Amino acid sequence: MLDRREFLMLSALGAAGVAAGCSKPSSARSGTAPLDISLTAREADIDLGGVTVRTWVWGDQVPGKEIRLRKGQELSARLANRLPADTTVHWHGLAIPNDMDGVPVLTQAAVKPGQDFRYHFTVPDAGTYWAHSHFGLQTDRGLYLPLIIEDPDERVDYDDELVVVLDDWIDGTGTNPDQVFANLQKTGMKPMETTPDGGVTPTSPIGDDGGDVTYPYFIINGKVPADAQTVDYRPGQRIRLRVINAGGDTAFRVAIPDTTLKVTQTDGFPAVPQQADSVILGMGERFDAIITVGQESAPVVAVPENKKGYALLNLRVNGKAPAVDIDKFVAAVRGQVVLDTASMKPAPEVTLPPKAPQQVLDLHLAGPVNGYTWPINGRLYDPPNNPMGATAGQRVRLRLINESMMFHPIHLHGHTFEVQGPDGSPRARKDTVLVAPLRTVEVDFDTDNPGNWIIHCHNTYHLEAGMATFIQYEP
Ligand code: C2O
Ligand code: CU
Repeated sequence: MLDRREFLMLSALGAAGVAAGCSKPSSARSGTAPLDISLTAREADIDLGGVTVRTWVWGDQVPGKEIRLRKGQELSARLANRLPADTTVHWHGLAIPNDMDGVPVLTQAAVKPGQDFRYHFTVPDAGTYWAHSHFGLQTDRGLYLPLIIEDPDERVDYDDELVVVLDDWIDGTGTNPDQVFANLQKTGMKPMETTPDGGVTPTSPIGDDGGDVTYPYFIINGKVPADAQTVDYRPGQRIRLRVINAGGDTAFRVAIPDTTLKVTQTDGFPAVPQQADSVILGMGERFDAIITVGQESAPVVAVPENKKGYALLNLRVNGKAPAVDIDKFVAAVRGQVVLDTASMKPAPEVTLPPKAPQQVLDLHLAGPVNGYTWPINGRLYDPPNNPMGATAGQRVRLRLINESMMFHPIHLHGHTFEVQGPDGSPRARKDTVLVAPLRTVEVDFDTDNPGNWIIHCHNTYHLEAGMATFIQYEP
């Protein structure tokens, strides 16, 4: 078996073979044909590893089948809705035309049961992305998949890669997300007691509150720990992990025993590489990291923040099961200072050219109020009413001001913003950023993709409870 590096070298040689001496090998690889796929949204029985659930999926698996493209390639995806409910597909993190963004009411009419819809666009940037339904609470069912965009010109310095999709699971376990939400509304929620620091400490970067939902299972790539996915490697192999948090209401810490993560990308965009023992990911966030496989088998562990349990996936060496005391390791990870990728420095090629913001938009994040609603600037999401107006061709600063005692991963569609450091220096380019209780995060972006762009909390239940607004500008 060739490893990935050898394979890429050989295929590059093959492609260049006929045009030996050609000065632009990359252009020889750029004429890739469109990728044509079909996503059938349907109800199905899915085996999460000894736990069978009736849920909603694309195709016949959770996560849905990976979509892999090259930067600049066209994707044509036919959504066939065979669910008993309306649905859409959102391509999380991609700066694509607004009418392909998959947000019901705002960018398209929801696709009715029995109907089809074709998404068609060119993928602009390389990186680790994902797709999920953007209708109701469907992200907390099985309607999601990893979306990987390769850059043929990227310097390749790893042997193999592994996509790691994290999720919190409740659907089909005697309840479903709609019932969970109805319960939250019925019982309401007391706002948490306010403490001056919001419960935020170096080892507890998003405070004490883990979320609103208690999940019976945590899964990686669709499997519970009892039947975890196992992947075979050789000691010394360098693996690029592409980690995606597809959870509905759970932030995860990701760590591997005796292994340093060299984090190289966040939300698809390159950052100045940073070493970490563990990395925290809010819902919707991603990171890429390079690891070196050790002499012993080891699990990739996802520890839900402030919730009981864990998910894992095994990196197997020499055919042996990992000999790790998992409970002890999970406890140790919970006590660590964990990397929030928003604090990383952006790679030079994705640092925004310095520019003073021409417009500042404040988003006051609050809740819960009136039982279970989560307003932004005192209002609940009500499209097409109450847009936040902007102007094309400008630098806009968003101030995400968390006045609540719960963390919110805030996601802007259609753009990748630059987090602003506390000293005003640029931080990572991202599309989703964790905002801890009683903290403010400032992010800058350029208005270079006109349309109606929702910005919302990526907690599925907060979004459904109104925690969204949208930015509107014309060409
Ligand atoms: Cu990942 Cu509005 O979505
Ligand atoms: Cu929220």
